Amino acid sequence: MKEVERIVRVDHAGERGAIGIYSAQLLVARVLYKDLVKVLEEMLSHEREHYATFNRILKSRGIRHCYGLTVWALGGWGLGIITALLGRNAIWVCTNSIETAVLHHLHWQLSFLELHDAEIHAAVLSIKQDEEEHQEVGKENGGDSIVYKPIFWLVQWSTKFAIWLSNKL
Ligand SMILES: [Fe+2]
Ligand SMILES: [Fe+2]
Repeated sequence: MKEVERIVRVDHAGERGAIGIYSAQLLVARVLYKDLVKVLEEMLSHEREHYATFNRILKSRGIRHCYGLTVWALGGWGLGIITALLGRNAIWVCTNSIETAVLHHLHWQLSFLELHDAEIHAAVLSIKQDEEEHQEVGKENGGDSIVYKPIFWLVQWSTKFAIWLSNKL
């Protein structure tokens, strides 16, 4: 079914973007925020698992990947570098913002998949738990200062735009 294929493709691409973000933030954190290295490494390993899960499904079903895959990897990397250089709070504001957009998207997918594809529903459901944890960490550490609001909205709308575009590519 076309819609199911699109869901796996978009999620696969999104996880590639997430790997880019955390890899870049980790690079900066190793120099500037050594205390964040461990938690960022942990998150990166989650995103690698998520990516592998969707990769497996794509391969086993013969579904092509998103044409924007490389762009999301680079875009994610750029976003990771910029937010990390803006400061440790910006890292977490970025995480909170992305996961808020992602979870909104996953909720919609889950209600659709529940009726249409048990295997992918289970995969998305298992990933959702990790993303909720990431969102929590982001919320707790991001800080509520008004200074960060533009970052929050900018990242959230970029994420929504990337999801929308991935649906077309
Ligand atoms: Fe993920
Ligand atoms: Fe995540």
